[in-house]
Amino acid sequence: MSYDITIIGSGPGGYVAAIRCAQLGMKTALVEKYSTLGGTCLNVGCIPSKALLDSSEHFHNAEKTFKKHGIGLENLSVDLDTMIGRKDEVVKQTCDGIEFLMKKNKIDVHRGIGSFVDAKTIKVTAEDGSESTFSSEKTIIATGSKPANLPFINLDKERVITSTEALKLKEIPKHMIVIGGGVIGVELGSVYARLGAKVTVVEYLDSIIPTMDGTMGKELTKSLKKLGFKFSLSTKVTSVERDGDEVIVKGEDLKKGGEVELRGDYCLVSIGRSPYTKGLGLENVGVKLDDRGRVEVNENLQTSVPNIYAIGDVVKGAMLAHKAEEEGTFVAETVAGQKPHINYNLIPGVVYTWPEVAAVGQTEEQLKEAGRKYKKGAFPFKALGRARASMDIEGQVKVLADAETDEILGVHIIGPRAADMIAEAVVAMEYRASAEDISRMSHAHPTFTEALKEACLDATEKRPIHM
Ligand code: FAD
Ligand code: NAI
Repeated sequence: MSYDITIIGSGPGGYVAAIRCAQLGMKTALVEKYSTLGGTCLNVGCIPSKALLDSSEHFHNAEKTFKKHGIGLENLSVDLDTMIGRKDEVVKQTCDGIEFLMKKNKIDVHRGIGSFVDAKTIKVTAEDGSESTFSSEKTIIATGSKPANLPFINLDKERVITSTEALKLKEIPKHMIVIGGGVIGVELGSVYARLGAKVTVVEYLDSIIPTMDGTMGKELTKSLKKLGFKFSLSTKVTSVERDGDEVIVKGEDLKKGGEVELRGDYCLVSIGRSPYTKGLGLENVGVKLDDRGRVEVNENLQTSVPNIYAIGDVVKGAMLAHKAEEEGTFVAETVAGQKPHINYNLIPGVVYTWPEVAAVGQTEEQLKEAGRKYKKGAFPFKALGRARASMDIEGQVKVLADAETDEILGVHIIGPRAADMIAEAVVAMEYRASAEDISRMSHAHPTFTEALKEACLDATEKRPIHM
């Protein structure tokens, strides 16, 4: 058997690369060691987490906000088994969809661990230990990432867990201690806080979602506190121990000094993810890794071995599904002789809490550090008719524009439907729009997107209409 191209890993990077390669006429193989296709994102990441976020949000609204809308409900309860079961069904449908797309595009799927025998020979080791080999002119490594851990933490996956276990708990925790206030911590923390758990986030830095614009972290902290979250910021975790069903987390308060001690029944470790290259046999072909264990790639996402490429979480850059997808398409088109382009500055980031947080471009902190002169405009959702109608008044839109040219440099939104609203900013910025450009475009009334127009009016000449 021989292929024009083989993709190892069927996550959003890998399956998109496979489809694009097949569309471009390449004889394509996809190797996946897991029993279902779709990788982290579809199986234990984006899709199941959003399914649980949606379910828990329904419960939270029914419990806390329906009354204010004049809707009375009695004897509300959560059936966690059903909630997790619905999530599993959503995952199954989505993964089956990828299986269908592989057949539709005539992509051969090989089940098992893919590894390099040499630069043009791939070995697949199936679960039962049987081995097969085939040749491939080119290969794309899309093996993704796995949860990171601290050396002193024993992830027993029962009470001291990662996101994967947090997506299938059998009970609602009484007190979930979350180590790491990044995206997973606040999203999965929200699921269980909405269902009634006490949630405490222990974060090393002095803000949650620290890579995002500082205003977003501050605003999200306020909203999550209303949901009942507790925060232990600037805290360096020093030990995580189990005492029966209890988990004891100790840390050092980096600001005030002294020890912090927390006791809970579950501890979610969400301190980032590490690139996954185990079992690939990279040493057989001489593919180099960088100092953080990621596959080293050049500007064409080509590894140190010219016919081997790498994409997604296993290479540098944001660990996001849509970034992996763009890279999959990029490599397929590059291999086909086209000249694709990815604007990494315009890959949006979204946090699916309530309110949602979404951003694209530069943060205020990054602009300050770069010494770039900028103007700032902001608009609070509470001043918007649409937001008051639906009672989603928390949050704001913040627009950063170049001080002289007025070109939009960054848009940061915390509020209702931020995840969908950010697309307008991405389009505008891709076409290098100024804040004035958006200020002069008609936005349907009443919609949440009017907040972006108002923030642009504020950024251009401090001339918002409704503030
Ligand atoms: P992956 O999706 O990790 O896929 C890699 C695949 O390769 C896996 O299926 C693995 O089994 C397979 N594999 C590895 N080694 C081998 C081998 N040797 N042989 C064969 N197969 C192999 N991102 C977003 O953009 N939005 C979100 O809302 C979002 N939510 C998330 C929620 C959670 C809880 C988590 C954990 C992540 C989330 N992410 C989200 C991140 C997103 O899942 C990743 O960025 C994305 O899955 C990376 O895609 P990938 O194709 O690089 O790798
Ligand atoms: P993360 O990088 O988002 O956050 C990790 C947090 O842990 C950071 O705030 C960091 O300062 C903190 N931290 C690190 N070491 C620590 C320590 N020793 N003690 C206390 N805090 C510590 O990583 P997370 O949340 O694990 O997510 C992994 C990846 O998955 C992210 O890169 C993210 O892009 C992706 N993801 C994306 C989602 C989305 O797009 N909505 C949702 C979930 C995950």
